[in-house]
Amino acid sequence: MADRVYVFDTTLRDGEQSPGATMNLDEKIRMARQLETLGVDIIEAGFPIASEGDFEAVRAIAKAVDNVQVAGLCRAVKGDIDRCWEAVKEAKHPRIHTFLATSEIHMKHKLGKTADQVLVMAENAVKHARQYTDNVEFSAEDASRSDWDFLVKVTETVIAAGAKVVNIPDTVGYTQPFEYYELIKYLMDNVKNIDDAIISVHCHNDLGSAVANSLAAIRAGARQVECTVLGIGERAGNAALEDLVMALNTRKELYNVETGIVTEQIFPSCRRLSQIIGMPIPPNKAIVGANAFAHESGVHQDGVIKNRLTYEIMTPASIGRTSNDIVIGKHSGSHAVKNKAEELGYELDDEQVQVLFKAVKDLADKKEQVFDEDVEALILEKVYRRLD
Ligand code: KIV
Ligand code: ZN
Repeated sequence: MADRVYVFDTTLRDGEQSPGATMNLDEKIRMARQLETLGVDIIEAGFPIASEGDFEAVRAIAKAVDNVQVAGLCRAVKGDIDRCWEAVKEAKHPRIHTFLATSEIHMKHKLGKTADQVLVMAENAVKHARQYTDNVEFSAEDASRSDWDFLVKVTETVIAAGAKVVNIPDTVGYTQPFEYYELIKYLMDNVKNIDDAIISVHCHNDLGSAVANSLAAIRAGARQVECTVLGIGERAGNAALEDLVMALNTRKELYNVETGIVTEQIFPSCRRLSQIIGMPIPPNKAIVGANAFAHESGVHQDGVIKNRLTYEIMTPASIGRTSNDIVIGKHSGSHAVKNKAEELGYELDDEQVQVLFKAVKDLADKKEQVFDEDVEALILEKVYRRLD
């Protein structure tokens, strides 16, 4: 039977740390609801100690979603952990995610601590968090540049202290797939109490290897993967959720794992984020870019006409991309407008459909063809703004 890999989405925390990706409270809640529909297992909603706004956003998201765990991030100190719990405690399934650096360079220059001191801090932080909840995750920041035997010690210590998930981040996007595979395998083979926790991975994309590294780690036994929609995140970003999930699904014979992701919600989720943060999806973006299923060369077109499998390894429908059969214009009825909204990932009630229908008609009087982007802009501007 296939193992379950848990998808931990950090679009609203690490993703929001991406330059230009700041979201307001309403936008974060809208994105959180979309992530719930997408089927992620955990939403990391923010870093509550960072600001009053972050705290309020985490609290609001915790109350806004039901079928997904909500995590807050905190440093491995009591004040941070207490504030984090305050923010997530009203979630149906709250998680405290505490982190501490374990690499020589971070311990010496950033923390000014010895390895022994870090070990004690990590243990105390997890024990403190466990007083609030048994759903505690510990991250060994800069793990991929840490001493492997020290990481074994840290992992054993935090598991014994009650951590349910131990995350091994490639914080600076430095590792390479075969090397990261070896590291995760080393932990799986050498951490004595490994069966009491799940190993998680969290990869940054500084060398363009975030997705490949995450997949290599899953091959080695990691069972939680941290990622963001469209791969947004600090600097060059995080592993892109859509790439990871579709690689796991498309090459199931290699990974033999499953996720809870509703793949048909992938495209609507990427579009939703792109609209909210005002960042267009690059045309050549894997899985969801405009060109991802476009065939330009004659040879390719000929092959695809004869059999789509010649040049397509997945169907557009499997990620929720439609063939664009419904063209919206001034002759469209409200039913077509409602369908188009659904296709784009928006479930509208009757009142909202009427608002959108009128807005589409007004626009169609001025413009020959109303594109999907126009409909989506009208939903965001007219439907949601009117109801705010
Ligand atoms: O990149 C990183 O190490 C992080 C941790 C806080 C998990 O974002
Ligand atoms: Zn990160």
